[in-house]
Amino acid sequence: MYFKQFLDEHCGCASYLIASRQTREAAVVDPALDIEPYLAIAAERGFRFRYAVDTHVHADHISGARKLREATGAEICLHESARVRYALRAVKDGDELPLGQLRLRIVHTPGHRPELISVLVVNPPRSPEPSMVLTGDCLLVGDVGRPDFGGGDAEAQQRSVERLLSLPDWVAVFPGHFEGPCGKGMCGRPSTTIGFERLFNPMVRLDASAFVRALGGEVPPRPLNMVAIEATNRGDADAFWAMPTVMDSVPEVAIAHAPAYIQRERPHLLDVREPSEYSAGHIPGVALVPQAELATRLSEIPQDRPVLTVCAAGARSLRAAQFLQQMGYTNVRSLAGGTSGWAAAGLPIDKTEGAPEPTRRIVESAWTHAGVHEAATTH
Ligand SMILES: [Fe+2]
Repeated sequence: MYFKQFLDEHCGCASYLIASRQTREAAVVDPALDIEPYLAIAAERGFRFRYAVDTHVHADHISGARKLREATGAEICLHESARVRYALRAVKDGDELPLGQLRLRIVHTPGHRPELISVLVVNPPRSPEPSMVLTGDCLLVGDVGRPDFGGGDAEAQQRSVERLLSLPDWVAVFPGHFEGPCGKGMCGRPSTTIGFERLFNPMVRLDASAFVRALGGEVPPRPLNMVAIEATNRGDADAFWAMPTVMDSVPEVAIAHAPAYIQRERPHLLDVREPSEYSAGHIPGVALVPQAELATRLSEIPQDRPVLTVCAAGARSLRAAQFLQQMGYTNVRSLAGGTSGWAAAGLPIDKTEGAPEPTRRIVESAWTHAGVHEAATTH
């Protein structure tokens, strides 16, 4: 067999190319939007793609499955419960996708998403037992996928993780993420084993109710451009441009210089935190567009003025500013230290509640601005 892991440093995602060296049939699991690396290996080794498997409808990055299908004729495979608007091979628990002598055995592991599948790789000439499992965002290295957006379910996640951990110790675990917003405490390693996680994953050592409580605790912010990305992955929109790809440096404004900068430049102040964070206290006069909605609400952000992005401590605002630069904004800065640094410096904080608009209306109105022709709907 042939097996290669691809790590995307921008979004913390992992994808996998699996092939039979005998028949040269290949599959990609959770393909990234840039499919060139897969095509290059296939050209070099004479592989032909049979499957583009998405473990679930992703919310943090745009899948390359449809591009791979267009380029190679690969069948898109998703769990039968996935709600998408394009043709696919619907798979269910226990199905096996033949790949030469290999078998990709589907295990339905809902929780992070209702449709999430894990893929067991079995190589019968070597062993009747699976040697590896690709776990999407179910079991992560030192963590489990968060179930708090897209219809996730912490109790289902607990049962799914327990099911994966009933695999033999030696099974190698390859997750869908090694970094990023789909988990809270990933260790950073790109792979692990069932045996190691059963012993040392802090989440799986909790009993069922503590596990569910832990997943329901502090909720990380929704990923950058999540609304546009998820709509695109469902086939509701073609906002492929919403994938943040440019990591160019963005100037930052230090808290100590911020009041003078704001007075001098009169920037559009843009808070990209979640509505609950905004309501708890924000810089006076700042407009709220949570990072998850940034791509779908670009029309609210003026292009003829400087823009100063703000978040809690300066990480999200930096990525949001990078995305605005990617979209052609030429005068964007990020507030280093964010709202917490601003408050710690004794600068004024406004606690007036915001009135965030419902996402559905935002999505429908914003595609037009972004030049996207299909109407988007949220699920
Ligand atoms: Fe995910």
